[in-house]
Amino acid sequence: SALTLLMILAAYLLGSISSAVLICKLWRLPDPRLSGSGNPGATNVYRVGGKLPAILTLLFDVLKGMIPVWSSYFLGIEPFFLGLIAVAACLGHIFPLYFNFRGGKAVATALGSMFPVAWAMALLLIATWLLVFKLSRISSLAALVTVCLAPFYAYWIKPQYTVPVIMISALILWRHQANIIRLTSGKETSFRRDQ
Ligand code: G3P
Repeated sequence: SALTLLMILAAYLLGSISSAVLICKLWRLPDPRLSGSGNPGATNVYRVGGKLPAILTLLFDVLKGMIPVWSSYFLGIEPFFLGLIAVAACLGHIFPLYFNFRGGKAVATALGSMFPVAWAMALLLIATWLLVFKLSRISSLAALVTVCLAPFYAYWIKPQYTVPVIMISALILWRHQANIIRLTSGKETSFRRDQ
């Protein structure tokens, strides 16, 4: 319906707002696209600016997924389309309209988009990320393990979201190409600030 299309568009436009770039600008920190890993996301904002800006980046990127999906849910949009609205939010983060279509990896936005429709799954995703991060201290590895397990979690907890979750996991995997290459050659940057 027209409402669904409108929400898909709104999700993309909201997703396009790069929290990392704006928060770094506000804090007068280096541009995260030009320092550290070069990724405009919470992990890299931590590298360039420390805890508080990183937590705020994480929060706003999570909200970019949460707000459009939650609103759409309350507007009575069907589960399959809620999944597509989640995908649209992630596409906005990855290909932002206002930032030359060069965005991030959509880990936080994907998580936020899962909360309104599958909170139990969202908690399981957070637990998975935290466990791998605790063991490895590598944010990208934690995200990679989590997105590989996400379709199985979806199939188990909310089967109607399995297809959109596979789409989002595939997008996130694809955005981590450089991380995967660094991980396999033992050169992945950790969570440390001094790089
Ligand atoms: O959320 C992005 C994370 O998985 C990797 O970030 O900056 O280490 O490439 P980064």
